[in-house]
Amino acid sequence: MRTQIAVVGAGPAGLLLAHLLRLEGLDAVVLETRRREHVLGRIRAGVLEPGTVDVLREAGLGARLDRVGLEHRGFSLRFDGAEHRIGLTELTGKSITVYGQQEVVRDLLDAAEPEPWFGVSDVALHDVTTDRPSVTFTDADGTARTLHCEVIAGCDGFHGVSRNAVPVSTCERAFPYSWLGILAKTPPAHHELIYAHHERGFALHSMRSPELTRLYLQVAPDEQLDEWPEDRIWAELALRLGTACEPGPLVEKGITSMRAFVAEPMRHGRLFLAGDAAHIVPPTGAKGLNLAVADVALLSKALTSWLLHGRDSEALSYSDTRLRATWRAERFSTEMTEMLHRSADPFDQRLSLARLRRVASSRAAATALAQDYVGSSEGT
Ligand code: FAD
Ligand code: DHB
Repeated sequence: MRTQIAVVGAGPAGLLLAHLLRLEGLDAVVLETRRREHVLGRIRAGVLEPGTVDVLREAGLGARLDRVGLEHRGFSLRFDGAEHRIGLTELTGKSITVYGQQEVVRDLLDAAEPEPWFGVSDVALHDVTTDRPSVTFTDADGTARTLHCEVIAGCDGFHGVSRNAVPVSTCERAFPYSWLGILAKTPPAHHELIYAHHERGFALHSMRSPELTRLYLQVAPDEQLDEWPEDRIWAELALRLGTACEPGPLVEKGITSMRAFVAEPMRHGRLFLAGDAAHIVPPTGAKGLNLAVADVALLSKALTSWLLHGRDSEALSYSDTRLRATWRAERFSTEMTEMLHRSADPFDQRLSLARLRRVASSRAAATALAQDYVGSSEGT
């Protein structure tokens, strides 16, 4: 088999990259270890920056997003028993869109022509520093195959194999807490997102639609899901958010560890890394999906210039450009995480409150936070 770009991974990064490349007239094949239903059912991010929405609209993927996406012009910070609204539109002129990652993935799969190869195994990358790289894999029927290509895009997330083919240096930080997340069939308790700092821990109120609420609680890193029966979750949310949600049936319940991770460089020969394969941000700043989209928006342009027009400057600078944006997002996501979570350390506890009070009392500090939250035109 032969293609121009072999894309490893059918998460939002891989699917969007293949879509953007095909719009430019390039040929791309996507390989995915999981089944289609699994990819479609994965509930994760929910906040799209305006830059991400622009990329999706320009790629012809805006119809459902514009119909059911929820435009938010601000969010609430709650601490010290009081509410402080961060007016994103008032402070930056921009707004965010609440639209689930699984909806983005659904739109991308609806538009995918051809479909990814789902259910593949034994994926291995070869000869990435030569002009003739390839990917070997076993297809869902058990047939061993080789995909010859000009470029490989490693979009296979944090647990993928692509990063192993790059001599990367890595930086990592594990945070001393996890998030317990639920998606519940109940109307949101507030019309905007609420980020709550409480002495019992952080809580986040978000949503997916007027009928679906997404909620998160800071829990200990080794917390077991069965220690959190539904009654306990709803009671804890009400305490920390200061607003009671109407309990409803759970569509999903899971625990996510909090880590920051960056692999440098993001290119090795003809292998390019994008999205979570190259970097993880702690979720508090809602940057992960947006970074992945910005990576592949640049990568599709760079590969188009290189493979169709023989200009390789953007491909050569891809890693440096995206690592600068990655570190901007790591800085912001780490600050949001440390400001909003409850630490066991008394000094950190006072620091969190001092940071929150500054954002609540200084327009300059609130504006800086709002600008980081909505992202820059270079892709967060
Ligand atoms: P992934 O979505 O991980 O996709 C990688 C794909 O590669 C997967 O389908 C995987 O099955 C496949 N794969 C793995 N190994 C192989 C292999 N060997 N061969 C082929 N395929 C392979 N981000 C935000 O921007 N905003 C938010 O509000 C937000 N909230 C979040 C909340 C939670 C609870 C979590 C967990 C994450 C959140 N994120 C958020 C982060 C966001 O979900 C990720 O950054 C995003 O999924 C990255 O997309 P990706 O395509 O790079 O990776
Ligand atoms: C959501 C997730 C986040 O990490 C965040 O900061 C805001 C919203 C969400 O899943 O809706």
